[in-house]
Amino acid sequence: MSSAPLTDSALPLPLVRRGKVREVYEVDDDTLLLVASDRVSAFDVVMAEPIPHKGTVLTQMSAYWFRQLAAVAPSHFISADTEEIIARLPALAEHRQVIAGRAMLARRTAPIPFECVVRGYLAGSAWKEYRQAGTLAGEPLPQGLTESVKLDPPVFSPATKAETGHDENITFDQVRDALGAELADQLRDRSTALYTTAAEQSIRRGIIIADTKFEFGHTTSGNLLVIDELLTPDSSRFWPADQYQSGRSQPSFDKQPLRDHLDELRQSGEWNGNPPPPALPEAVVQAMSTRYRDAYLRITGDTLLASP
Ligand SMILES: Nc1ncnc2c1ncn2[C@@H]1O[C@H](COP(=O)(O)OP(=O)(O)O)[C@@H](O)[C@H]1O
Ligand SMILES: [Mg+2]
Repeated sequence: MSSAPLTDSALPLPLVRRGKVREVYEVDDDTLLLVASDRVSAFDVVMAEPIPHKGTVLTQMSAYWFRQLAAVAPSHFISADTEEIIARLPALAEHRQVIAGRAMLARRTAPIPFECVVRGYLAGSAWKEYRQAGTLAGEPLPQGLTESVKLDPPVFSPATKAETGHDENITFDQVRDALGAELADQLRDRSTALYTTAAEQSIRRGIIIADTKFEFGHTTSGNLLVIDELLTPDSSRFWPADQYQSGRSQPSFDKQPLRDHLDELRQSGEWNGNPPPPALPEAVVQAMSTRYRDAYLRITGDTLLASP
């Protein structure tokens, strides 16, 4: 299911949305085709170079989790099987190389404009909030917690889904005020159940899911589905369990090589953090590609490609 690195797809279907990573196409009133490109963003800037196999990793890892977690919460997932998708959409046959492994057929929803973040460990913006205010999502946490410490039970810490600019962490009460208590509670309960089940499963493979972000939407008939991508390196913090130690930041299976490289450029004044992005060295591109494929192997226990 390998294809050439892809920066942008252009399929003969109506384009609904072009996100930072995915093109979303309309199949019919109730169905979408999500195509994960190999674009990578860091600090909200999309890089010029595609990361080989990244889109395939995102789509196939999401498909893996949608299947694994089907009993926990209903989802938008229909199929990520290229031949099944082409059977349904014969016009895509001549675009087989473009969509191979990276396309997902999904039930169309009206997305709920909040990111449903669940945190099982104190890291990233949560660690920052705790250090500054002693709280997480506005709720007080015990004093004296250290960076990367396990949060038991996990904490639902929602964020706005900003159309432009950075997502902003908010409180659960703000979600309740916006959506009503019933829907807000459903989002929290489903997100927490998805996280807990996935985290229990991953730890057996030696991976800690420190935190992750879910999105939900309603179908026209009013069903609440988990949508978008599920438990990928782009939406989650994965840590190798054998290197875990609280009291410090953790090595992770994500964009760290890219972030480190960009940090250096910013410190030396070679890049100001705004578009256009700097050209990436081939070594950084390859390090990222390896990380994404390694994450897929570690999480699913399966190799993505017959040959690398
Ligand atoms: N089932 C669905 N119904 C409607 N919209 C969806 C569905 N699944 C995903 N989406 C939307 O498709 C887009 C996916 O593209 P992506 O590149 O991840 O965008 P973003 O830059 O917003 O993260 C997101 O805006 C997401 O909310
Ligand atoms: Mg997204």
